[in-house]
Amino acid sequence: MKLNIAVLAGDGIGPEIIAEALKSVQAVCTKFNHELTYKEALVGACAIDATGNPYPEETHSLCMQSDAVLFGAIGSPFYDNNPSAKVRPEQGLLAMRKKLGLFANIRPVTTFPSLLHKSPLRSELIEGADFMCIRELTGGMYFGRPQGRSEDGDTAYDTCVYTREEIDRIVRLAYGYAQKRRKKLTVVDKANVLATSRLWRQVSQEISAEYPDVETEYMFVDNAAMRLIQWPKSFDVMVTENMFGDILTDEASVITGSLGMLPSASVGIHTSVFEPIHGSYPQAAGKNIANPLATILSAALMFEYAFDLKEEGKLIREAVAASMDAGVVTEDISEKGKAYSTSAVGDWVASYIKNK
Ligand code: IPM
Ligand code: MN
Repeated sequence: MKLNIAVLAGDGIGPEIIAEALKSVQAVCTKFNHELTYKEALVGACAIDATGNPYPEETHSLCMQSDAVLFGAIGSPFYDNNPSAKVRPEQGLLAMRKKLGLFANIRPVTTFPSLLHKSPLRSELIEGADFMCIRELTGGMYFGRPQGRSEDGDTAYDTCVYTREEIDRIVRLAYGYAQKRRKKLTVVDKANVLATSRLWRQVSQEISAEYPDVETEYMFVDNAAMRLIQWPKSFDVMVTENMFGDILTDEASVITGSLGMLPSASVGIHTSVFEPIHGSYPQAAGKNIANPLATILSAALMFEYAFDLKEEGKLIREAVAASMDAGVVTEDISEKGKAYSTSAVGDWVASYIKNK
């Protein structure tokens, strides 16, 4: 098969983790006789520096012409420390999501036996936890307008907007996943306070009638935040709006043991994007210490979701699990004094794939 992908490494540790993921992608392609072609493009702070635009038109057209996008991370302390900057790296990521119509961000949360003791949560609570957060990605407060400041600068406002259509398409997608899994869907909202949440609940209640084989549960987001770490095994598929999903999935990474382990797939209307859920970790940039596994696992999702190549994705996942069993991992999940570098982990995973 011909795989034509766009590679957007972005900022901070982005280029390092992407380089490691590409080693595994290449190894899988060689093994299964796929022809890989990829082109790189700018996004985020590096794109602002080069062009003034965090998601240049050239990058967008490359994404549109590709079969999948492998994405690193964006963000830079320069912009974080300058809240009044007019153009921000994050706008690049948001523009990409919107322009590609990526309304669903799928974040699977699983545990790895060798990592159980790395979680601050008790092993028996998390062992076997296996659920999927489906985060709405192109609506809500991230995109609602008006957003801004009053003239005197002392009042600021954001707007949360959702339409029936936006809720309908993601809730149906979530039911589809629930049907293929353990047939339970948790709809997370704040319907006791927010009008948008009440629409979410109403629309999901209506749709639930069409999926009688799936058990539907409604949960307020504050309660969900608690339940997530108190009884994570009670979740199968969770669907929620953009901002709630952003927060709950960082929290969920505690179950896996490190933020450096969680991959994601963003799907919707145009080309799908595969990216780790963590950020650009600028403190680690250039030090060869960042965990590349979330990006390598995102590449596994790319094979499965964008190309329907299940065996390929499975082999990558197996290689990642093997690297953890062998203790070939970066400092965030290693035993004290036994950390491997980003590139050593990437090389190990790729050579496992080659030799399999
Ligand atoms: C994520 C990130 C982004 C988000 C930021 C970088 C804009 O935190 O992908 O979860 O909030 O969506
Ligand atoms: Mn986030």
